Amino acid sequence: MTATDVRHSPAIAAALRTIDENIAAFGTGYPGDTTAGGRYAERPGNIGWTTSFWPGMVWLAHELTGEESYARAAAGHVPSFADRIATLSDVDTHDLGFLYTLSCVVPWRLAGDTVARDAALAAADHLLTRVLEPAGIIQAWGDMTDPRQQGRTIIDSLMNTPLLFWASEITGDPRYADIARRHATQLRDHILRPDGTTFHTFYWDPATGEPLRGETEQGNSDESCWARGQAWGIYGFALNHRHTGDPTLLDAAHRCAERFLSRLPADDVPYWDLVFSDGSGEERDSSAAAIAVCGLLTLGGDRYRAAAGRILASLIDHYSTAAQPDSNALILHGVYDKPKGVGVDEGNLWGDYFYLEALTRVTRPDWADHW
Ligand code: GLY
Repeated sequence: MTATDVRHSPAIAAALRTIDENIAAFGTGYPGDTTAGGRYAERPGNIGWTTSFWPGMVWLAHELTGEESYARAAAGHVPSFADRIATLSDVDTHDLGFLYTLSCVVPWRLAGDTVARDAALAAADHLLTRVLEPAGIIQAWGDMTDPRQQGRTIIDSLMNTPLLFWASEITGDPRYADIARRHATQLRDHILRPDGTTFHTFYWDPATGEPLRGETEQGNSDESCWARGQAWGIYGFALNHRHTGDPTLLDAAHRCAERFLSRLPADDVPYWDLVFSDGSGEERDSSAAAIAVCGLLTLGGDRYRAAAGRILASLIDHYSTAAQPDSNALILHGVYDKPKGVGVDEGNLWGDYFYLEALTRVTRPDWADHW
């Protein structure tokens, strides 16, 4: 074992202890998006874009340990997700990919759950209703006629297209994958800037399909580079390359990775916007680091693997709650939305999920992700 490897088992043991505590506390309910004072409270039902990270983590616990009790706890969330898409509750969002890949594609793949498969397919169909022509992009947020949101997509959406690739794979209908491919290439051409940084969101003209302008929502400014967006870019372009074989998407992932790595501070965990560096007094976003580790490991190669190892070691040593039993998060010091003051310097569900996915990747190199 290398110096980095010896950290992984205690880190996984600590994560599993927290997950056990949360299974007992939340049952088939859902922790909130972020902690408050380092602890998650229960949210009022299956709403928002992050609920699937909770069963996603529990499925990872099952894959790491082989224990059936984790599979049972995770599968207990399928009825709630099936109901959510059947009743179209809070589904006016591109985040159906995050929501239904982890909650329903995973139990279909691991346990042959056909209710989960059908719910994931219904979610993929609903995602197609968000396609805006002639731009050929998937609108990120809100009602398709909302003038503030019309024609707008965001970098995170690259993590939602895997649901569409999966839907084409199991139905044999190429429409889903065709949309995903067009959307990813539009982001490659417009949300990725010439210098390898990314806009958080980008607008296309709904009538003509012309690319219009980049705009931030959670970053420091329209011109700066939101750290989590850049991490979504690394992982998202890498996954879209894997699904399409398009080398230009791999190049896009590499460009995102190079920029991200060039802006890491001394402890290898980025500030919430890459415009900030050591001495700025700003907060880190540990979740951006965890997502980037998964993206870098997907890209592979000695350099990216080494960088991923350094970032993960820092998360384990300085951001995980292994030595903080009073927290029910896996990692702390993330930022959800600094401009709006939401979840600043707290744990968050996606940071926890991708931290555990990163630990799974490094301890189980044979593990096949579900994206
Ligand atoms: N997908 C929303 C976020 O990363 O905050």
